[in-house]
Amino acid sequence: MKSVVLPNYNRNVLRAILSLEVRVSEKPVPVGDEVLVRLHAAPVNPSDIAFIQGGYQIVKSLPAVPGFEGSGKVEEVASGLEDWLGKRVSFFVQDDKSGAWSDYLVVKECDLIELHEDMDMDQAACLAINPFTAYGLFDVTGAELSRAVIVNAAGGQVPAFIRSLAQEHDVKVINIVRSQAAFNKLKSNGEAYILLESEEGFAAKLKELAHDLEATIAFDAVAGAQSGVLFNAMPPDSELVLYGGLSNKPVSELSTMDLIFNDKMVSGFNLSAWKELIDNKEFKAISESIQMKFITGKWETHIRSDFSFDQVTEALKSYLGDMSGGKVLLKPSKI
Ligand SMILES: NC(=O)c1ccc[n+]([C@@H]2O[C@H](COP(=O)([O-])OP(=O)(O)OC[C@H]3O[C@@H](n4cnc5c(N)ncnc54)[C@H](OP(=O)(O)O)[C@@H]3O)[C@@H](O)[C@H]2O)c1
Repeated sequence: MKSVVLPNYNRNVLRAILSLEVRVSEKPVPVGDEVLVRLHAAPVNPSDIAFIQGGYQIVKSLPAVPGFEGSGKVEEVASGLEDWLGKRVSFFVQDDKSGAWSDYLVVKECDLIELHEDMDMDQAACLAINPFTAYGLFDVTGAELSRAVIVNAAGGQVPAFIRSLAQEHDVKVINIVRSQAAFNKLKSNGEAYILLESEEGFAAKLKELAHDLEATIAFDAVAGAQSGVLFNAMPPDSELVLYGGLSNKPVSELSTMDLIFNDKMVSGFNLSAWKELIDNKEFKAISESIQMKFITGKWETHIRSDFSFDQVTEALKSYLGDMSGGKVLLKPSKI
């Protein structure tokens, strides 16, 4: 089988990308609670970029196969897991010895999502992380009860699912983007509230809007000084939820007085930790309802193009050149 392999972590993203190799090895054998999945496709996410730079929470032994999610078909199973044989699945994988950018990989049973027969396999490749993250962010904050929320990096996929959930519950969304292209795209999609983070008076405009609309929750994927701008813009009794660190900077500029006197809160969200709070039955029900959103066309991950493992450098450069332009998928080479 072929896999994309990272020989060394490198803070310099271009060097990290250029160091990726395609290697041939034996298929792994599933043991214990594992199944062997034959990959259909795996996306490139911001966490993969942080991972190859050695800047992510997950650090694997080297050489390592990147990729934390994908879709495929179960081809072999460890003893006792025969019910999974032949099933189409989405999966989440963070194990040291396994990565999604591979023809075959072993996945733990608890990290499999059984797919509905009508679920598209390319969409399923991007199912295990972002849609559940948007759902989980709404769940933990009770955002459906708020009047308005703020999202930054708003051209990305998690914010797109957050907007859809917000619309379902009649919650308004203030979108923040960093590029004019992402601004224009959201505008043409009919978004009412969009701010460009570089525009003059950005912090003041955000504050006015957040107070007018009563935006009491901010979902922050950027961090750095922007966390402070979001936090300080919201009215009393608000919550800033950090779920990404796209700026690669520590959270800063939070108003101390707001923290002390205005009952504002800062929290973090991690999908894996949220999933651990949910039992199997509830997770299955959530998975079913999320898959139905895709099947009925209500939700869609915007996928720009797909690349073979041999084109991994091109794929990552293309993704980083226009992250709001949609996901790129890595697919096994056709045999
Ligand atoms: N905590 C969790 O459990 C969890 C789970 C899933 C995802 N996440 C995080 O959620 C975030 C969004 O992921 P995604 O898959 O939705 O992203 P995506 O669809 O790949 O898009 C990334 C978006 O972020 C924007 N962006 C990138 N760097 C930025 C920066 N420094 N400042 C402002 N905007 C920036 C991009 O804008 P341009 O087009 O201008 O580049 C693009 O709109 C990531 O940080 C990811 O790690 C966290």
